[in-house]
Amino acid sequence: MGNSEILVDATAGVQKRKIFSAEEIYQLELEKVFGRCWLFLTHESEIPKSGDFVTTFMGEDRVLVVRQADRSVKAFLNSCRHRGNQVCRAESGNLRSFICSYHGWTYGIDGSLINVPLEKECYGSPVDKTNLGLAPVAKVENFNGFVFGCLDPEAPSLREYLGEMAWYMETFTSGGRAELLGPPLKSVLHTNWKLPAENFACDGYHVGWTHAAALKVAPAGPLGQLAGNTGINTTEAPGIQIATRHGHGFGCIWNAASSIHRGTALNDYLLSKQPEVAKRLGEWRGKLFMAHWDATIFPNCSFLYATNTFKVWQPKGPGEIEVWTWSMVDKEMSSELKRNVQKEAIRTFGTAGTFESDDAVNFHGCMRTNRGPQTRKGQLTNSMAVGFDKTHPELPGVISELSFIGETAGRNFYRFWDEVMDAANWDEIRAANSHWTEDWLAPETRDTNGNGRNQSDHFEHRQTQVAGK
Ligand code: FES
Ligand SMILES: [Fe+2]
Repeated sequence: MGNSEILVDATAGVQKRKIFSAEEIYQLELEKVFGRCWLFLTHESEIPKSGDFVTTFMGEDRVLVVRQADRSVKAFLNSCRHRGNQVCRAESGNLRSFICSYHGWTYGIDGSLINVPLEKECYGSPVDKTNLGLAPVAKVENFNGFVFGCLDPEAPSLREYLGEMAWYMETFTSGGRAELLGPPLKSVLHTNWKLPAENFACDGYHVGWTHAAALKVAPAGPLGQLAGNTGINTTEAPGIQIATRHGHGFGCIWNAASSIHRGTALNDYLLSKQPEVAKRLGEWRGKLFMAHWDATIFPNCSFLYATNTFKVWQPKGPGEIEVWTWSMVDKEMSSELKRNVQKEAIRTFGTAGTFESDDAVNFHGCMRTNRGPQTRKGQLTNSMAVGFDKTHPELPGVISELSFIGETAGRNFYRFWDEVMDAANWDEIRAANSHWTEDWLAPETRDTNGNGRNQSDHFEHRQTQVAGK
């Protein structure tokens, strides 16, 4: 971070505990992470008609997302240009204009200021409204129906930002197949936003232990066998970890859909669609279509494919988040199947879901414990299977084939977090795009400017600094 303290050593899989509680680090995250990465806003299916809107957050900034008359989607800071009040208090709806509740300034759905009450009588002369529209979010783009916004005009396109992750996500989103059922469930959790984001990116490790009780009542099969961490049946339930550029990543369990949903209409549905996906997108993505994914799109958007939940971790200070949860379905499912999928997703990962409550206890515990005045001076480990990370002849990104349980995608999450916190701008980040896997797998060959360096000196130097108290 900056030129001062080293907070992450992604090569060794180490990060300092203070990144979960220090106010100054959190404030820098709002600028450098949330101020310039692409953030999930909504799904197109939530705002189908002109004037449809949702309100959400980008970091701690309130944002209004509106479907325009020309069918495009725009987003604005949800803040009146007069005194700064929010111009829309509703979570969603359909309006022809947005009227501020304080003095009544009125904005069109395109964000322009269209009415100032008592303009003639009190301002004396006409107000020049041309520069008083709602501040636009610099970029709004959609990936197969998933709408994201970015506050940094210098950022790459959404497609470039998703990078190799887009290749993987085509598996279930291409042609606008996946959609979200809202409105999102919302709950408050006392934890740092990175803890659940990291968990969804990589943490297959906790599943057998944290969720042991829930797994014991789950159907027999690979996941049920995890209960109590007594061992993994690696022949029946092998999987991989995948890390892609810009901090995105996931762990997947092969053929888990059939074990989780064995004997259900959902499994029949997935099996009926699988041959078409394999034919169109190839064998690997045909296989991924039937896998279970725990995934994070950096920084704060996570999903579980095959347990059908989609989440955003909205930061509210270093020690608090709002968890927003949608159910994820395939557009072509019957409405009855969609309803059943939604019920099951809410039962497991909804606000009061069985798995959700298990996780919340631990996310809260990590947060509270890591911030102890002495405890926070230490460091944590993310080093599972370091040395097994590699590139793959057919799968993009960095892969660990050792098991779906791993920390490869977690190391990638903190690697990019560190990079984006350190970089002055997107040009610096772009400069590493062409050699990010080489930098990871052979850190001795280059630094982030593409220059050679003495790896052992550098590594020892970093280790010393991270270990220092
Ligand atoms: S603050 Fe919005 S009209 Fe005054
Ligand atoms: Fe969990």
